[in-house]
Amino acid sequence: MEQHIEERGELVFRMMRLEDIPDVLVIEEESFTLPWTQEAFRNELTNNHFARYMIMELDHQPIGYAGMWTIMDEAHITNIAVRTAYRGRKLGERLLDELMRTAAYMGMVRMTLEVRVSNHVAQGLYEKKGFRPAGLRKGYYSDNNEDAMIMWADLEPAGDREEGRA
Ligand SMILES: CC(C)(COP(=O)(O)OP(=O)(O)OC[C@H]1O[C@@H](n2cnc3c(N)ncnc32)[C@H](O)[C@@H]1OP(=O)(O)O)[C@@H](O)C(=O)NCCC(=O)NCCS
Repeated sequence: MEQHIEERGELVFRMMRLEDIPDVLVIEEESFTLPWTQEAFRNELTNNHFARYMIMELDHQPIGYAGMWTIMDEAHITNIAVRTAYRGRKLGERLLDELMRTAAYMGMVRMTLEVRVSNHVAQGLYEKKGFRPAGLRKGYYSDNNEDAMIMWADLEPAGDREEGRA
């Protein structure tokens, strides 16, 4: 099915709410071979006080989301995904930027994530944003026993970013 994509639509970032879960599951299922369930997202939003989830909307339509756990001064990305029809337009980069900015604003100084060793697209995005490989978790993914690459980035302090732009 063809989808109409607004070239200059309004892009908005906001925190995820429980009502977003059906839209998030659509993105989740088209993005991951081991998609999280409705219960998993509900649990993250209601019980996990370390969790922060963000929705990216284009013209009021959720087209991506990202999440992290903030523990001490380290942010752990749990997932990031953009709807298939909207990929390759720098929107994933905008979403990751926003997540990193939010983490820095919350006082986080470093960010980490795991990514499948075969996921070169995501690795390219992370490297572009300053993440560097820091080892492997062997057989981390249960569907095919694939290894995870661990990556880390230092976050720019929130104030510095704003000054850099002025
Ligand atoms: C990873 C993902 C979020 C990237 O979002 P996106 O909007 O398609 O990416 P962007 O257009 O912002 O591209 C940002 C960078 O990603 C990399 N990238 C994006 N598409 C790529 C492609 N088809 N081939 C190689 N690299 C690619 C590039 O480094 C790109 O920077 P560049 O355009 O300057 O070269 C998206 O592909 C996605 O949702 N994938 C499925 C879920 C997933 O794998 N999540 C990560 C789990 S760890």
